[in-house]
Amino acid sequence: MQLLVPDPRQAVRLAAGEARALGGAPRPQAWTPGPGRGIWALEKDGALIGGARAEAGVLAGLYILPQWQRRGYGRYLLRALARQPGAPAAVAAPGGAAPFFARLGFAPCADGLWRRVPPVSGAVVWAQTQLRRALAGRPAPVCIDATCGNGHDTVFLAGLGGRVLALDIQPAAVAATRARLAAAGADPARCRVVQADHARLAALAAREGFAPADGVMFNFGWLPGADHTVHSRARGSRAALAAALHLLAEGGALTAVLYSPGHGPQEEEKQAVLAQLTGLDEARFAVTVHPGHPGAPLPVLVRRLPI
Ligand SMILES: C[S@@+](CC[C@H](N)C(=O)[O-])C[C@H]1O[C@@H](n2cnc3c(N)ncnc32)[C@H](O)[C@@H]1O
Repeated sequence: MQLLVPDPRQAVRLAAGEARALGGAPRPQAWTPGPGRGIWALEKDGALIGGARAEAGVLAGLYILPQWQRRGYGRYLLRALARQPGAPAAVAAPGGAAPFFARLGFAPCADGLWRRVPPVSGAVVWAQTQLRRALAGRPAPVCIDATCGNGHDTVFLAGLGGRVLALDIQPAAVAATRARLAAAGADPARCRVVQADHARLAALAAREGFAPADGVMFNFGWLPGADHTVHSRARGSRAALAAALHLLAEGGALTAVLYSPGHGPQEEEKQAVLAQLTGLDEARFAVTVHPGHPGAPLPVLVRRLPI
């Protein structure tokens, strides 16, 4: 299998195929060399399998010929592209191919382009594991993801078998979470994704039928791949946590993942939230702070004790 620059005959076939797949007229010129353009043909034993093209460093098209589709060649082509000099760093809004790119770890960013998002951290895995254990006895838990970001936690919560309300202050996060849920095959009737500040959590949860909630997840900080100046802050985070704890069902659980480079607003948020959670009434809540590692994201579990 090899990646080559398409010859003129291949360019015509790729353009015709792309036009058939997307609608519109074939544009062979898009598949021929030009300034700022990257074009690749995937060949196997001399047969054309498909191709990819990039404009100004953005993947603008990836096409596998019909007879080769559904055999993993799209995934192969994308991986092979990543190893090429001048490989595209982002994907133009993929439209109908969104589930394909979401499955491969891409998510929409604030500028409308799709990029690979980093895999979930150990802290997130710990938080998810604790929550799963805490809710094991509830077949259809009512859950809230109060900072849905790229949707990893929302998909996890949807997988617990109940209903999920996901919110985030940024439209890009809402789009990423919806795409990730669709790619995971989650039941849309059980998942509600809303663009909202979690300052409105109490009112939203009541309006959407998510109070009381069995499980609530917070993963503070910013949206990976987006504007890092948009992030959660101590005051708002404490208020949202207070609202979440108030609507937590007896026996329910809440997790929070905290970040800090050791100074600045994120350190302030981490310390404020830790003080809030470790200061909760021991008769009503059991709090576990993961021992953590210096500089690593810090997960916390809060269980509401049955009275
Ligand atoms: C680390 S990301 C969350 C990751 C996410 N849980 C996941 O699984 O991909 C933090 C998110 O919190 C969101 N956020 C920050 N302040 C917020 C607020 N006041 N209300 C709701 N979301 C907020 C950011 O937009 C960002 O998407």
